[in-house]
Amino acid sequence: MTSPLPSSSAASVLDLAPVVPVVVVSDATDAVPLARALVAGGLPAIEVTLRTPAALDAIRAIAAEVPSAVVGAGTVITPEQVGTCVAAGARFLVSPGWTDALLVAMRGSGVPFLPGVSTTSEVVALLERGVREMKFFPAQAAGGTAYLKSLAGPLPQARFCPTGGIGPATAPDYLALPNVSCVGGSWMVPADAVTAGDWARIEELARDAVRLARRDGLRDAGGTCR
Ligand code: 3PG
Repeated sequence: MTSPLPSSSAASVLDLAPVVPVVVVSDATDAVPLARALVAGGLPAIEVTLRTPAALDAIRAIAAEVPSAVVGAGTVITPEQVGTCVAAGARFLVSPGWTDALLVAMRGSGVPFLPGVSTTSEVVALLERGVREMKFFPAQAAGGTAYLKSLAGPLPQARFCPTGGIGPATAPDYLALPNVSCVGGSWMVPADAVTAGDWARIEELARDAVRLARRDGLRDAGGTCR
């Protein structure tokens, strides 16, 4: 049995958790202990990117064996991948960019999704299509907090999960923005820790990430985004 999405925000990826680990799994046997460590550290929403041949097996394993995790698929870039990921157990979908075909497939999937944007026109185009929640990628390279702050004036209805180049030093600045609901990143899943099977280190890094997300004062004790 899988855990329910947080009740008040089941339709939104952005409200799952203030920090979403973005995970690249090379060996599917790492997926379950990795997910358990992240959940134990307080990060239940886990994005497994489709960047390795092991990704779908990793999603399957987490969905089946870590009921307290909410596993999603990242780097979803084709309509075909949408169905495959949901069938594997993905409970949310994230893409670095979007097309109309991808949007149609994501909408039809029945799970929450976050299409990626990096320009104002893409934000406007998604708003025009009724999508208000987006991934901002690659966050640091595309203008960082200054860019997102500038969008909040003309486009206050758009809400973002920035990812790409964010770390513990910059995450609080993003989380303090009114149009940012959570941040994504891989800093709490260092490749050397995964290779070494150092799950305790990953749990501790996850715990640190939860702490820094709370520091900005936007989240309640349960980690729910405002
Ligand atoms: C993503 O796909 O969201 C990013 O690659 C994560 O970015 P990071 O590895 O720079 O944190």
